[in-house]
Amino acid sequence: MSSAADTTFPGLFITFEGGDSCGKSTQVGLTHQWLKEQGINPVLTREPGGTPLGEQLRELVIHGPDDVDPRTEALLYAAQRSYHVATKIRPALESGRVVLQDRFLDSSIAYQGAARDLGVEEIRDLNIWATYSLMPDVTILLDLDPEVAHTRRTGEPDRLEREPTTFQHLVRAQYHALADQYADRYRVIDAAQDIDSVQADIRAALTPFIQKLHEGDSK
Ligand code: TMP
Repeated sequence: MSSAADTTFPGLFITFEGGDSCGKSTQVGLTHQWLKEQGINPVLTREPGGTPLGEQLRELVIHGPDDVDPRTEALLYAAQRSYHVATKIRPALESGRVVLQDRFLDSSIAYQGAARDLGVEEIRDLNIWATYSLMPDVTILLDLDPEVAHTRRTGEPDRLEREPTTFQHLVRAQYHALADQYADRYRVIDAAQDIDSVQADIRAALTPFIQKLHEGDSK
């Protein structure tokens, strides 16, 4: 399988990945602001979610019963992703938009494939099928030790956050493996830094992609 994005799309597909409580949502929000300051109006979206159907599935998969079978869970994530790609992400990329997305298929590979032990290859194949092989152009990995992430957690833990820390260690190890395997699209950021430093690193990582976009046309 190739990690290369489908270059027939004029848009730019940016995804954010990381373990739970790594500061991802904050950084996605700050990046959204920054992109707007660059004259870009990105499609801001997330998984699970991003569509009305996806948001309903999000509720079920994150706050649903604890006895959801791991394969059921994997299929629910793949189902919401397939619909999200077909109705929102792909049309946006086709029309030249920048898509800024909180989590995509690498989350399923790390969480369901590795941490739930369903098999990295099987989960990758399932999601490639579900998305017609759509890959991000660039993936920002916010890398954080799960023990540190745990101390940052606020509020009641959800279904996945109730998993033991070993689960998050497996997630992190798989993200590292993905970053090695797809070094061309992965940018690994040290999320243990303060918010501004993390954001500065993200901007530096994304700047070449934004410059290329500006060179091509105005998206
Ligand atoms: P979030 O907290 O970043 O919004 O993500 C929600 C949870 O869903 C988080 O624990 C990661 C998990 N998740 C998966 O297990 N597989 C997936 O494919 C996605 C998108 C999220």
